[in-house]
Amino acid sequence: MGVFSADTGHEQVVFCQDKPSGLRAIIAIYSTALGPALGGTRFHPYATEDEAVHDALDLSRAMAYKNALAGLDLGGGKAVIWGDPARDKSEPLLRAYGRFVESLGGRYYTACDVGTYVQDMDVVSKECRYVTGRSETNGGAGDSSVLTAYGVFQGMRAAAEHQWGSASLAGRTVGIAGLGKVGKHLARHLIEDGASLAATDVSPAALEWAAKHYPQIALVDGVDALIRADIDVYAPCALGGALDDDTVPVLRAKVVAGGANNQLAHPGIEKLLDERGILYAPDYVVNSGGVIQVADEIHGFNFERARQRAGRIYDTTKAILALATDEGVPPAVAADRLAERRWADVGRLRTIRLGGVR
Ligand SMILES: NC(=O)c1ccc[n+]([C@@H]2O[C@H](COP(=O)([O-])OP(=O)(O)OC[C@H]3O[C@@H](n4cnc5c(N)ncnc54)[C@H](O)[C@@H]3O)[C@@H](O)[C@H]2O)c1
Repeated sequence: MGVFSADTGHEQVVFCQDKPSGLRAIIAIYSTALGPALGGTRFHPYATEDEAVHDALDLSRAMAYKNALAGLDLGGGKAVIWGDPARDKSEPLLRAYGRFVESLGGRYYTACDVGTYVQDMDVVSKECRYVTGRSETNGGAGDSSVLTAYGVFQGMRAAAEHQWGSASLAGRTVGIAGLGKVGKHLARHLIEDGASLAATDVSPAALEWAAKHYPQIALVDGVDALIRADIDVYAPCALGGALDDDTVPVLRAKVVAGGANNQLAHPGIEKLLDERGILYAPDYVVNSGGVIQVADEIHGFNFERARQRAGRIYDTTKAILALATDEGVPPAVAADRLAERRWADVGRLRTIRLGGVR
């Protein structure tokens, strides 16, 4: 697929190669209308170059929407490193990658994603100033799942208020699919709020953790059983594609709010949810606490400042659900519209010249 023929609207796509270290990376910048593009680096053994380009294009576009609605003065970008992280990751490769990110002069800030970790960002930062997601000892924000889960909780509260008139989850049953980094923190917030929990995970270690720390969580055998269980809220916190043509018709929950990315398996699922009266809090809105956490590093990380900003996910989710009702569209469509409005209204201000010749 050609980048131009795909008519994607991206500003810039950069191919980076360093043969001695084996680096092959693609950095995609969708938009810098609101500020420098921010998005993580995915390290993945793509089958083809085409697949790698596709992923970089899709992911960078999604980041532009996420960052806009998170209220960040940041655009959307993402990078992919084509290779097997277990085999190909090395100090020279990561540092070569850092030099390419640096060469963009701050148009793109990177961060962790699937296959890259805080230790890797520490290495990248030896060659590059435009890195977030570093370790705390290196001035970084640390584990972003902390504020991701906090933001999901806030988005869920907004959805509960829209659906049932009260933001409290007390007395509601929430089903969590995936008790990983995000799911565990989310479980704690919900229990503290008085919710009952059902959960499932494929990892025996995650189930053992739940049984030990929160014996009150009803553990369910598989996602299929969870979605058919008597739950009020469904929180997908594992992999993408949780909502599809098979799951939505049998889902008993009346609210969906979870941390997983790309929950809608394909376009059209948002309408199916709407027709069944299930309120869907768009994934990229409610799970933006993680990017809010790492974005704060750009200004010298301050957890409390980041936490307060992640708390505003409650207001943003409420605004999106209200817009969806007003305009008669599913919340996923309303979220996209709100992001595009912020690009147009705030991004436009950069056309007011501040002096200088360029
Ligand atoms: N960590 C973050 O800051 C962050 C930010 C935004 C979005 N997300 C998204 O949230 C989701 C969870 O992220 P995480 O950091 O908690 O990852 P994680 O790997 O720590 O946790 C995922 C959990 O899901 C479980 N799982 C996998 N397949 C499953 C299945 N079929 N059924 C049930 N459980 C299954 C895993 O065993 C694991 O415990 C991902 O989709 C991720 O992209 C994470």
